[in-house]
Amino acid sequence: MTTKKKKTGGLAGVVAGQTAICTVGTEGKGLDYRGYSIFDLAEHATFEEVAFLLLYGELPMIKELDSFKARLRSKRALPEAVAQTLEKIPATAHPMDVLRTGCSMLGVIEPENSFDDQLPTAERLLATFPSMLAYWHRFVTDGTRIDFESNEDGIAGYFLEKLHGKAPSDLMREAMDCSLILYAEHEFNASTFTARVCTATLSDMHSAITGAIGTLRGPLHGGANEAAMELIEKFSTPDEAEAGIMEMLANKSLIMGFGHRVYTVSDPRNEVIKGWAKRLGEEVGDTVLYPVSERIADVMWREKKLFPNLDFFSASAYHFMGIPTALFTPIFVLSRVSGWAAHVIEQRSNNRLIRPGAEYIGPGSRDFVAIEDREPDGGMV
Ligand SMILES: CC(C)(COP(=O)(O)OP(=O)(O)OC[C@H]1O[C@@H](n2cnc3c(N)ncnc32)[C@H](O)[C@@H]1OP(=O)(O)O)[C@@H](O)C(=O)NCCC(=O)NCCS
Repeated sequence: MTTKKKKTGGLAGVVAGQTAICTVGTEGKGLDYRGYSIFDLAEHATFEEVAFLLLYGELPMIKELDSFKARLRSKRALPEAVAQTLEKIPATAHPMDVLRTGCSMLGVIEPENSFDDQLPTAERLLATFPSMLAYWHRFVTDGTRIDFESNEDGIAGYFLEKLHGKAPSDLMREAMDCSLILYAEHEFNASTFTARVCTATLSDMHSAITGAIGTLRGPLHGGANEAAMELIEKFSTPDEAEAGIMEMLANKSLIMGFGHRVYTVSDPRNEVIKGWAKRLGEEVGDTVLYPVSERIADVMWREKKLFPNLDFFSASAYHFMGIPTALFTPIFVLSRVSGWAAHVIEQRSNNRLIRPGAEYIGPGSRDFVAIEDREPDGGMV
């Protein structure tokens, strides 16, 4: 009998620290932010309430939420130097690089001078990322220099208004708000862990978040929602999608938006975002993308017992909101900055340098050979 070799590496199953912010994958499918179920938060809270919960530890009272939102509104405008930097980034750039650069530039112009500034710094990032993304996008697509005034009091509506130059429908504002809640936090995922490693050297908030954005960019992490869209768009009927996915599976291709390192039963965020994708599809009269997405999910479960993660139905939801595919992962940043910043703050509260060991698998001890005496190894020129 042959037994399949268990995959190692990637710190899978390793507990790398303690957190009071989030639990993921309890019973293979749970997700709680500071003890509150993602289902309750998605149904009853707004993104700003959730961001407050993550940053300050408790759900806000009405007065606290009002003043948090007022502070965020007052912090939306970009410094001139950041706007000018964004204008220099070409239209061909990936928008994740835009946010990475914008975050870093904001840290140059408004450095976090002391850890006492950490909460105002986190709020400033939360408030300015939607402005950065919309500013650059509009500047390179139609030459508009957007202003930062708006009657939209939440991040979801503000971002959609600035992106499209008009107020969003109520359904779109609500769907975006919910998607920001779903993306806000996810324990020690790769980008959050990056932020914590950086923070543990006693570096600044902007460096930690800039590193996290770079980590999120990859298709095995946040980039999966863009990759999922590119896949779904290839098919014009569910039958075509089924045939295409079967062929990809036969070729051992990865199907983006499926599978998860921690969840084993399902990704709880999927059923929430799937509901929004369906409603948005109905609002815009879609007859293709949603049925194709559903069929892909059915085939993946039937063939591989793999379930869609949050990224899969986020793709069609964002598409129905008229958002260009390249902006999907950056929207993840607009939300996840709340979780990243909460982890930066938590790491600082009980810090120790994060520096794991490695198992050495290279050559044993060897004598040094002077350069003129070295034999060519045939491999390198
Ligand atoms: C998320 C992900 C990186 C987790 O990776 P991981 O924990 O290292 O899991 P593995 O890559 O070891 O996957 C285990 C097996 O399932 C297969 N598998 C996992 N996800 C798959 C997918 N999306 N499509 C096809 N096969 C998949 C792997 O090929 C592997 O098969 P093997 O044992 O025959 O080699 C992985 O599922 C993936 O690449 N998914 C697609 C990208 C994605 O959606 N990322 C967003 C995550 S929220």
